[in-house]
Amino acid sequence: MVRVRLEEFKVFSGSSNEILSKRIVEYLGISAGKILVTRFPDGEIYVRCLENVRGKEIFVIQSTYSPSDNIVELLIMIDALKRASARSICAVIPFFGYARQDRKTKSREPISAKLMANLITTAGASRVISVDLHAGQIQGFFDIPMDNLTAYLILGRYFREKGLKEPVIVAPDVGAVHRATQFAGEIPTSTQAIFVKKRLSPEEVETSRLIGDVKGKSVILVDDAIHTGGTLISAAEEVLRRGAVEVYASATHGVFAGDALEKLDHSPIKEIVVTDTMPVEKRINLPEKVKVLTVAPLIGEAIRRIVLHESVSELFEKGL
Ligand code: R5P
Repeated sequence: MVRVRLEEFKVFSGSSNEILSKRIVEYLGISAGKILVTRFPDGEIYVRCLENVRGKEIFVIQSTYSPSDNIVELLIMIDALKRASARSICAVIPFFGYARQDRKTKSREPISAKLMANLITTAGASRVISVDLHAGQIQGFFDIPMDNLTAYLILGRYFREKGLKEPVIVAPDVGAVHRATQFAGEIPTSTQAIFVKKRLSPEEVETSRLIGDVKGKSVILVDDAIHTGGTLISAAEEVLRRGAVEVYASATHGVFAGDALEKLDHSPIKEIVVTDTMPVEKRINLPEKVKVLTVAPLIGEAIRRIVLHESVSELFEKGL
C-alpha cells in the first residue's frame, strides 16, 4: 500500500469492475469516491456523484465488456463528473471492449474501436488508461493521452516462478507474437513458437501450422483474451499431437463467453492464468484450473504516478 495526497484526486468505480476497483483503492490507501449508479424503472442508467469533485483530478474505473450497458455507464459517469466541474477525468478501462473491430476487413463494416474512442473523448475524458489493448494502434484512435499498460510481465513472472522444464512460449496466432515475446522476456530459459491461425467463424478456429519446436517441452500459450476458448483449445490439442509434454495457457482478459469455462475445464490445458481486468472471480463454477492474478498494483501505480506527475514509462519497460 502506498499513500498519495488525498485531497488531489478521487477514484470512482463503475459497476463492471468492483473487485478490481476495491484492490486499486486499497493499493493507493484511499477510499473510493461516492457515486450512485442505479436504474430507472425502464432500465436506463442513472448516475449521481455523491461528493464534491470541483477542481479535482478524477479517475473512473470501468471495463467495457458486453453488455454494452457497461460502456454507456462509463459515458454517463464521465458526463456527470464533467458537469460537476472535475478538473480532469481519466477513464481507466482495464478491459477495452469493441476492440476487435479496429479496421475494416470487409466492405461496409464499422470501425467500432474508433467509435468507442470518439464516444469516450466526447463524453469528457481527458486521459485513458487501459491494459493490453487487443491492438496497440487503438491508442492512436484517441487524441488525448492514452496509456496502454501491460500485464504480460506479471503473467510471465508467475510462470517463471513455476520453474517449468524447457518452457516454450507459443503465440496462438501471428497477432500474439509481440505479447508472447514480452511474456517470454520474463522467462530467460524459454524458447518461442508461433501458430498460423485461420478463423473459420466467430466460434471456430483452425490452428494447424506451427513454426517452432514443442516436442518434449512444456508449452505456455499466450494470448490477449479468451472469448470462446476456441483458439487456445485448438492450439493446445495441436501442440500435444506434436509431442509437447504439458500445456498451460495465459491471457490478460478472461472474457469466457458462453460455455467457454466448461469447454476449457474439459480441455487438456493444465492451468489457465488470467487477470482481474474482468470480474472472473465472480463467475459461478469457476474451474479450479483457472487462476486469477491481480493488475491492481499496476493500475494503482500508474494512477499514483500520473497524480504525482512522475514517469509512467518505467511500468511498460520493467513492470512493477
Ligand atoms: C484474436 O485475435 C484474439 O487475440 C484472441 O485470440 C481471441 O479473441 C480469442 O478468442 P476465442 O477464445 O474465441 O478463440
